[in-house]
Amino acid sequence: MKIIRHRFITSLTNMCVMDKWKYYAITHQRHLVCNPISVEKLERLCQLLKPKKGERVLDIACGKGELLVRLAELYGVSGVGVDISPYCIQECIEKHQNRVSSAKLKFVEMDGAEFMLKNNELFDLTMCIGASWIFNGYKGTLKALKEATKSDGLIVIGEPFWQKEPCEEDLKTEDIKKDDYGTHLDNVRLGEDQGLSCLYTIVANEDDWDHYESLQWWATDDFARNHPEDPDTPELLKRITREKEAYLKWRRETLGWAIYVFRKPR
Ligand SMILES: C[S@@+](CC[C@H](N)C(=O)[O-])C[C@H]1O[C@@H](n2cnc3c(N)ncnc32)[C@H](O)[C@@H]1O
Repeated sequence: MKIIRHRFITSLTNMCVMDKWKYYAITHQRHLVCNPISVEKLERLCQLLKPKKGERVLDIACGKGELLVRLAELYGVSGVGVDISPYCIQECIEKHQNRVSSAKLKFVEMDGAEFMLKNNELFDLTMCIGASWIFNGYKGTLKALKEATKSDGLIVIGEPFWQKEPCEEDLKTEDIKKDDYGTHLDNVRLGEDQGLSCLYTIVANEDDWDHYESLQWWATDDFARNHPEDPDTPELLKRITREKEAYLKWRRETLGWAIYVFRKPR
C-alpha cells in the first residue's frame, strides 16, 4: 500500500508492525462513517445526489459501506463497494444483509486500483472518499473515477486540504509534506482542469473533526481495557497517543477536509 499521509489514517502505515487493517478496525470500531464528515452531512449529501432507481454506483474504499447502503435504502440504487480491508468488507456484507438485502449490492475485498484495472463497466455515480493514495493522489483519483463514470454522471471525492500553512514542527514529525495537499480552491480547480464541473462541496468543521479523531481514542481505550493481553495493545496505545498529540497540537488548526461533487460532461 502507498504511504498514507492523511491525518485520519496515518496510523495505518508508519512503522506499523501490527496488521494495519486490524489497527484500523480497532480504532474505527465506534465509527459509522470513516471520514471526518458528520452523519448529518452525509445524509445531506445523499439527499442532494438523489440517484435514480436502478442506477449503478461504485464506491472505491467503501469502508463500512454506509454511503452505498444508504443510497440503496433511499433510492434503490445497485452497485459495487470495494475495500482492501477484510474487516470492512465483512461489516459491509452484514450491513447489506441486515438493512437492504433486496438491493443488488456487491462488496469486494481487493485493492481499488486493481479493481479499476479489471473493471470495464461505466457507473452513473463513482466515489472515493478518503483514500486518494490508491490512485497516487487526488489528481490520479479524479482521472480514475472520471474514466469509470458515464458521461453526465457524478463523481464524489473526499480529500484533505490546507486551511492554513502547515506547521514546520508537524512536517518534521510525521510523514506529511506540504505538497501532499492543496487548498480547497486547488481541489476544486484540479477537477475543473480535468474537464469536470464542481457542483458542490461539504467541509468538515472542528466539531466533525473532533468527533472523528476522538472516537478513535475512545475505541482504542475500549480495546485496551478489554484486551490487555493482546500482543498489539502496547503498540496500539503508543500510536494513538502520538496521533492524538499531533492532532491537538497542530492539525486541528491547519488541515481541512472536504467532499467534492463533480459532474462529468456529456
Ligand atoms: C478513511 S477510510 C474511508 C472509508 C469510507 N470511504 C468512508 O468514508 O467511510 C479509508 C478506507 O480505504 C480503505 N483502503 C485503503 N487502501 C485501500 C486500497 N488500496 N484499496 C481499497 N481500499 C483501500 C481502508 O480499508 C479504509 O476503509
